[in-house]
Amino acid sequence: MLKQRGVQILGTGHHAPEQRLTNHDLTKFMDTNDEWIRQRTGIDERRICDPTKGENTTWLGTKAVENAMADAGIEASEIDLLLFATVTGEMTCPATACRVADNIGAQGCAAFDILAACSGFLYALNIASDMIRAGTYDTVVVVGCDVMTRIMDYTNRGVSILFGDCGGAAVLRATDDLSKGKIIGSMHADGSSWADLFIPVSPLDCPPGQPKDSTRMLSLQMNGREVYKFAVKTFAETISHTLEQVGLATEEVDMFICHQSNARALETMRKKFDIPDEKLPINIDRYGNCSGGSVPSLFDQVRRAGGCKDGDLVMFVAFGGGLTWASMLWRM
Ligand code: UT7
Repeated sequence: MLKQRGVQILGTGHHAPEQRLTNHDLTKFMDTNDEWIRQRTGIDERRICDPTKGENTTWLGTKAVENAMADAGIEASEIDLLLFATVTGEMTCPATACRVADNIGAQGCAAFDILAACSGFLYALNIASDMIRAGTYDTVVVVGCDVMTRIMDYTNRGVSILFGDCGGAAVLRATDDLSKGKIIGSMHADGSSWADLFIPVSPLDCPPGQPKDSTRMLSLQMNGREVYKFAVKTFAETISHTLEQVGLATEEVDMFICHQSNARALETMRKKFDIPDEKLPINIDRYGNCSGGSVPSLFDQVRRAGGCKDGDLVMFVAFGGGLTWASMLWRM
């Protein structure tokens, strides 16, 4: 008979590149202004990789994993599986997960990428948690990491002001303490709205009615207004549905770690559910929207500041390209 197991978060880490891109910097080469960006998004500045220094997704993810391993106090040889959620891996083959595993010296562990855009880290956390619970693996590293600047068209001011680069990671391990780990989690996708957020590789990828312009290739195309509506609806429905399923009230949740899509959308949620500021932390003001890197970097920052402590109930929510969305209610 399958032995029951809990799942413990042994450690977390994140890494952001040193270089900053402020709103003021953007005004030097784009028709925009600090007030518009702050009001519409809540962003002051973002961190951006310098590709000339070799700063890419593999590099950023490796740093995040190293920090999480140091926090967890584990060696690379202890890792059974490395899951890497990204939309900005340098290559489709090999998986970024394989190169990061190699960089940290984890030879022979399972390693693969997950493509669920901004929901990627929560997809990975769901899968990792279930594989540990099922007894398949004992120790799993989960990463969410994106270098969004690599797929940004800075002539498109309606999109490019939003994104930055960051990666975060968590080390998960089986424990006999059954109270720890996922209480309930979800993963969803609605592919019928894929064209609201996509990265075309060839002009043939562009949906009917959209220009098949070669200058749009390999840069993020986003219907901001539609995605914003989807974000607010999904945040609300996901939080309500998750809590209803387990019969908990909003105030019983100790911390909400939400995708940093837009500070306005988060503020709408805060008001709707009457969540105190300290339970709905943000880092979008300093990092921008970092896609798969947003949730794990915020989680690490909150943990290091003393939040999400042992025994706390943490709700994770994210949504993004696909369109995808995912949630997790986790007992620390
Ligand atoms: O994490 C992945 C999921 N993504 C998201 O959650 C993104 C969700 N969407 C958003 O956050 C918002 O749609 C944006 C912040 C990206 C854009 O805000 P918006 O309020 O939807 O702006 P808009 O694109 O509808 O543009 C409104 C106006 C337009 O001017 P007119 O036509 O009303 O005169 C734009 O030309 O603002 C103008 N505008 C700008 N003005 C100054 C667009 N971008 C800029 C800019 N600076 N950077």
